Amino acid sequence: MTKTIGILTAGGDSPGLNAAIRGVGKTVEGHYGMQIVGFRDGFRGLAENRTMDLGGGTLSGILTVGGTILGTGRDKPHKMIIDGVAQDMTETIVQSYQANKLEALVCLGGGGTQKNALWLAQHGLNVITLPKTIDNDVAVTDTTFGFDTALGIATEAIDRLHSTAHSHHRIIVVEIMGHRTGWLALGAGIAGGADVILVPEIPYDINCVAEAIKNRVRKGKTFSIVAVAEGAMSKTHLDEVNEYELIKANATDKEEKSRAKKKLARLKAVHRDHAITLGLELEALTNLESRVSILGHLQRGGTPSAGDRLLATRLGTACADYIAQGRFGVMVADIAGKAEAVPLEQVAGNRKVVPLDHSWFEAARRVGTNLGD
Ligand code: F6P
Repeated sequence: MTKTIGILTAGGDSPGLNAAIRGVGKTVEGHYGMQIVGFRDGFRGLAENRTMDLGGGTLSGILTVGGTILGTGRDKPHKMIIDGVAQDMTETIVQSYQANKLEALVCLGGGGTQKNALWLAQHGLNVITLPKTIDNDVAVTDTTFGFDTALGIATEAIDRLHSTAHSHHRIIVVEIMGHRTGWLALGAGIAGGADVILVPEIPYDINCVAEAIKNRVRKGKTFSIVAVAEGAMSKTHLDEVNEYELIKANATDKEEKSRAKKKLARLKAVHRDHAITLGLELEALTNLESRVSILGHLQRGGTPSAGDRLLATRLGTACADYIAQGRFGVMVADIAGKAEAVPLEQVAGNRKVVPLDHSWFEAARRVGTNLGD
């Protein structure tokens, strides 16, 4: 009997997803004689058994297309919001997997998806995953598809901001995605020649940043580009987070604990108009006019770069090989140029931050970039 492979994309969309779907699909069909079926909108589509036929010519012409032809969503199998209430849909998902007579389920996603995939593997499904995200923060893999495209877009944005910042003698704060890591901001900041780069890995001192900008003015450079990761935090902000962590840990009654938890959630939120506050603070401290540019979802949209198409195709086709070998409960990681199968337990719940001894930090400092410390 022909084996059937299910595939879904989950979490934020990312350039290269379609290239990966194509890589998996064409190899399982053309090389291994299996068939492939897509589930729409992530784990929700699997729970609701909303499928998309990926056979025949469906996979042709999608290599260069951004987003995901399957649609995506941020639902968790064990906590899916149905009619406003969180429900555990694990059993329904297992039934849908069985009803479709799946040999395996391929999940394409970032950190959250790896956790959800492990959960389903622990509930008996043959799961295999691929690492996708513009944030590049998935553990164990050297890189994730989507990152290279976003890096190119953010770099081009910084290039373009230079001429307008220069013409108006302004500070331009450019907010770059990356969730709680600084891969994208640091990479684009270096490639685009930002004067200041602020990332979550290095809590920053606002006075140090202002001083660096004033130093540039003294040298006749009356504009500055500040690349700030959406998850970056000032030292003051971090102190406040630590203070509330302590309050939460020492709280004796339930209400106090819950208040501290809520406050912490607000303090740790990634999307919090951080760049706007930063621009205003720097304006006050330097007497230079500032503007803020939040790149947002532009960084995730559009056609994937050649690098992402290559990576997604390489990992996608290798994924099909691992399926044929019966290797499940693994993520296909990019390690030193090879597509390696690593146990999901090593990936799920572990975030890959930029190590402080990473050569990018060293390079940025060498060229005189201020890192806020
Ligand atoms: O994980 C990818 C990412 O683009 C992050 O960089 C960002 O924090 C988040 O997704 C934005 O999520 P949403 O698309 O739900 O606004």
